[in-house]
Amino acid sequence: MRRACVQSIRRSTRKTVSPSPISRFNHTSAKSSDSALPENDELPRHTHFGFRTVAEGDKEHLVRNVFSSVASKYDLMNDAMSMGVHRLWKDDFVSLLKPGKKGPIKCLDVAGGTGDIALRILDYAREKYADRETAVDVADINPEMLQEGYRRFKKTMYHNTPQVSFTEANAQDMSHIPSNTYDLYTIAFGIRNCTSIPAVLEEAHRVLKPGGTFACLEFSKMTNPVLDTLYDQYSFSVIPMLGTIFAGDRESYQYLVESIRRFPVQPEFAKMISDAGFTTGSMCEGKGGAWTDLWGGIATIHTGVKLE
Ligand SMILES: C[S@@+](CC[C@H](N)C(=O)[O-])C[C@H]1O[C@@H](n2cnc3c(N)ncnc32)[C@H](O)[C@@H]1O
Repeated sequence: MRRACVQSIRRSTRKTVSPSPISRFNHTSAKSSDSALPENDELPRHTHFGFRTVAEGDKEHLVRNVFSSVASKYDLMNDAMSMGVHRLWKDDFVSLLKPGKKGPIKCLDVAGGTGDIALRILDYAREKYADRETAVDVADINPEMLQEGYRRFKKTMYHNTPQVSFTEANAQDMSHIPSNTYDLYTIAFGIRNCTSIPAVLEEAHRVLKPGGTFACLEFSKMTNPVLDTLYDQYSFSVIPMLGTIFAGDRESYQYLVESIRRFPVQPEFAKMISDAGFTTGSMCEGKGGAWTDLWGGIATIHTGVKLE
């Protein structure tokens, strides 16, 4: 059953304060996770939130608080923290996927936030292939981030068209989407915030059609140890400071930096993608490999194909 549509004004489980263009899928319970403790009814399962260990059930709302807090400044901060480089990475990500090349496609952009990837996919398909039918459904756990995205799309030609929709949903539980629905699943700078990466990958595999592509852009591990040390120093000193200056919020940006350090390194994540049932390139970087490093591995693009 499809619930998401830009035009639909519906929130199933909340008091409606004002008409919202964002559909909401009730996503309170997530699937099993890669917790640090064995399953046991008596003990809370644990996971990480940045460098802190927290009860698994707490992570989602902690992450949601971070993005609620940064939503209005998110785009500005992205530019400030990366000196605009995140735009180049996102351009590279979408160019690599070539949406629209083989005709219009149906895309799901998960953890889509303010719609950076969705907008690029639609622009790319239109500008390169005169494709005005490729469509992107943006899903995110955080309504404030989606509101920013919706506001932004209002200024574009895609507003009020079937080419874009926004749904509040958890990447780990997309059960409102039937299996085998999408040609392309994208997730950019989102998966490291999720409690269970395997659960996200499992859902990605399920909602993709056979032949569909999974593509993830995420911060990763620099391959050069000297540059990695410099980058570490920059991240831990400059980014929380920029958070204080631009957003009055040091803690959220401290979390963002820590969460990057906790994310699996390239071969480990590639193996997780393969374990979820995707066919990847060989376990190496570059042409024919499972991943492509950007800027020496500060960010990495991973792809996989669902064969059947
Ligand atoms: C760093 S932002 C990335 C936004 C956008 N993809 C971009 O590249 O600009 C991370 C996003 O992941 C979302 N997120 C975190 N956990 C999530 C989950 N379990 N399911 C869906 N979205 C999630 C946050 O709300 C936030 O919007």
